[in-house]
Amino acid sequence: SSRPEADSLVGAIDQGTSSTRFLVFNAKTAELISQHQVEINQSFPKEGWVEEDPKEILQSVCECMERTSEKLIQLNINISNVKAIGVTNQRETTVVWDKETGEPLYNAIVWLDLRTQSTVEKLIKKTPGKNKNHLKDKTGLPISTYFSALKLRWLMDNIESVAEAVQTNRAVFGTVDSWLIWCLTGGKNGGVHCTDVTNASRTMLFNIHTMQWDPELCKYFDVPIEILPEVRSSSEIYGYMVCNEYCLGDQSAALVGQMCFKDGQAKNTYGTGCFMLKNTGVKPVMSDHGLLTTVAYKLGRDQPVYYALEGSVAIAGAVVRWLKENLGIIKSSSDIEKLAATAGTSYGCYFVPAFSGLYAPYWEPSARGIICGLTQFTNSSHLAFAALEAVCFQTREVLDAMNQDSGVPLSQLQVDGGMTANKLLMQLQADILCIPVVRPSMSETTALGAAMAAGAAEGVCVWTINPDGMTSVTSEKYQPKINPDESEFRYTRWKKAVQKAMNWET
Ligand code: G3P
Repeated sequence: SSRPEADSLVGAIDQGTSSTRFLVFNAKTAELISQHQVEINQSFPKEGWVEEDPKEILQSVCECMERTSEKLIQLNINISNVKAIGVTNQRETTVVWDKETGEPLYNAIVWLDLRTQSTVEKLIKKTPGKNKNHLKDKTGLPISTYFSALKLRWLMDNIESVAEAVQTNRAVFGTVDSWLIWCLTGGKNGGVHCTDVTNASRTMLFNIHTMQWDPELCKYFDVPIEILPEVRSSSEIYGYMVCNEYCLGDQSAALVGQMCFKDGQAKNTYGTGCFMLKNTGVKPVMSDHGLLTTVAYKLGRDQPVYYALEGSVAIAGAVVRWLKENLGIIKSSSDIEKLAATAGTSYGCYFVPAFSGLYAPYWEPSARGIICGLTQFTNSSHLAFAALEAVCFQTREVLDAMNQDSGVPLSQLQVDGGMTANKLLMQLQADILCIPVVRPSMSETTALGAAMAAGAAEGVCVWTINPDGMTSVTSEKYQPKINPDESEFRYTRWKKAVQKAMNWET
């Protein structure tokens, strides 16, 4: 049928860096019906390394789906009403597995991982004019530890079983979407090896103009093109083995879920990292201010490709997890709001959490975290406040870059993601940006975007996407409350701290 059924439901697997969720939406009303969430373990085997276990990731997806089904049964909802399942995922994180055994050949190397820093530095040194933007025309990206090609190269150079499986034609590469879709559509017994254009655009092997794997880029990184997944649009049926799936990288899914379908519309998602994407329409726009050019979405095989400018911030929610797990100053992540509120100021303390170098707009892998402006008076609540303020300052830096690139300043910022439940953070963000911050009351927009792409796919057609956005979205608006001069003063100090984080060794 091409018309939404009253009871058609669509599921979304949202596999993020810190947790996995499965959510079920009503395709007609976009109402969230049920969900389940499981945290993902991260390992840090060496300084700067970040890994996750691909099997644990898969297991977490299955667990979330099972638990959500149980919840649906309790709600007297028949699971067969779920017509399709979308996938949205942490991007860039790299998995290589053996297609004959179905086993991963190494842990997933997480996007935040810094092990390829020396390779990045070597590659940049070799380019004409030592230019980190050498591959930007084709990929929209600077050469950085962030993207999959470097992680894949590292695996082929350092892990014998990977090198051997590549040679014997048994190795396959994928970002987390590919790994999950392959497993869920049958794995070694005929699993579909594919990805979508948004995830492909984060590998550094994909040409964002031709929308294909680029033989020259593959040669540059010495990656055999055969091990790469087939690239599909973000909204089409990929496979049937276990269930139907459709896929979008998580930041693209949030852009869709926030209904940013028009040129100039933007959203900022606060997850492990923080990612601002601005829809630039059907033409890729290259940034002059340190932003990435990335594929926003392609909602169907015959639909046009939309592009986005992206300001990626590596550490947002991750700094809260660090305060919890490494310093132990909070017991649960949500405690940070209360702790920061007891001070209500950082008392002149600035915290640049450059744990994985600095991403946009600096792209400096050698930057490291710094806390400065400490006095005898500083305590854990000031530190908590400074950590939240750091998320806001980093967002301000990418917003400034976007405004400079487009010449048209954004008049308000649409936000989503787990951290947006923190009201203090939201107010602080409005104060530091000096523009209103708008948060939808249903903040699971990443999963919503994936569900929309799935429900609207040809052959499913239970979800009608309105390109003019949704009329019935309720939201909360945070207006800036402090004097812009005060905001400017703090931002200037922040910038000084950033310089120290970038030049901490000299
Ligand atoms: O590029 C990495 C990004 O996709 C991770 O998102 O939600 O896990 O912070 P998140």
